[in-house]
Amino acid sequence: YSNEDQSVLKAYEWSNKLFHHVLKHTKDGKDALNYLKNRGFSEEAIEHFQIGYSPRKDQFLSTFLKGKGFEVENLVQYGLLSSRDGNTFFDRFQGRVIFPIHNHQGKIIGYGGRSIQDDIQPKYLNSPESKFFHKGKILYNFHQARRHFQKLNQVVLFEGYADVIKAYQAGVYHAVATMGTSLSDTHVKILKQYVDEVIICFDGDSPGKEASYKSAKLVNDAGMNARVANVPNEMDPDEYFEKHGSEAFQKLIQSAESYVAFSLQYIKKNYNLNTDHDRVQYVEKALDIIATVNQAVERDFYLNELEETFKLDRSTLLQEIDSRRRIMR
Ligand code: CTP
Ligand code: MN
Ligand code: MN
Ligand code: MN
Ligand code: MN
Repeated sequence: YSNEDQSVLKAYEWSNKLFHHVLKHTKDGKDALNYLKNRGFSEEAIEHFQIGYSPRKDQFLSTFLKGKGFEVENLVQYGLLSSRDGNTFFDRFQGRVIFPIHNHQGKIIGYGGRSIQDDIQPKYLNSPESKFFHKGKILYNFHQARRHFQKLNQVVLFEGYADVIKAYQAGVYHAVATMGTSLSDTHVKILKQYVDEVIICFDGDSPGKEASYKSAKLVNDAGMNARVANVPNEMDPDEYFEKHGSEAFQKLIQSAESYVAFSLQYIKKNYNLNTDHDRVQYVEKALDIIATVNQAVERDFYLNELEETFKLDRSTLLQEIDSRRRIMR
């Protein structure tokens, strides 16, 4: 790191120390602390994830950073502070709970700020993309989860901060978040260096399901095992944990189904299976998916289902699989 870079990282670190202190030990942080406790975040997790709060004051952080000798002009581009005119600086994350985002070496390189008051929108404000923070490269909690997913040869992928933190509270330590629903090729490449299996546990709403399908495909195409957890009733994992507790949460993850089983079911919504035309289209697509399975026994298992459901000839199905696998090679 250059001197300037080190100074930015220091500013992030100091700012987080301040936010964390405000949350835990000051009157300004009281509402935020209550908010977190009411949502089921444990004190231990607040500590472990170094969660903080940025009070509703225009010049709280900027005064603090100036006092520490930082050149605050430079910090605007990193989203630590905001400025309208380039001369006066004000706090960017006012009224938000702060989730520090670390790079893979464990240095803070950004924040996720969650509003706890209705008049502060949007719900989440993140640090802007910068030379340190690229959403497409960073996974939330990677630095703490790495040794766990490396050992288990499996990583659990969530959408959000709250999901990862509740997973931690449930004893699921090998968890990271994409901070949204966009899993990138770069994320997949990074994870592939450590694990053979990715369990996708996105939100149970329809964007979450759609993203689960896309992400599982990406992981599968990269030659890893992809599995998808089924979070029911449009809940998200964080809500599921609050409603059903640790044990059920662990089961939810353990019982994640394979990419193939999930997607064969999921894509059915795109077809009207009462018409012959769509039945054929669906079977073609299903064969594409089944052909990606490397174990013959597992392929057989899914072909059985197709054969029975659509009253098809087994040898035709096997031929179709063979020709698809020849092209793939
Ligand atoms: N996110 C974001 N910016 C937004 C919305 C979402 O960066 N405007 C990211 C955050 O990392 C968030 C994740 O996407 O944690 C998932 O979004 P969502 O499911 O909407 O939020 P939750 O994590 O469920 O937030 P909460 O439980 O605090 O309501
Ligand atoms: Mn502390
Ligand atoms: Mn969501
Ligand atoms: Mn969510
Ligand atoms: Mn949530």
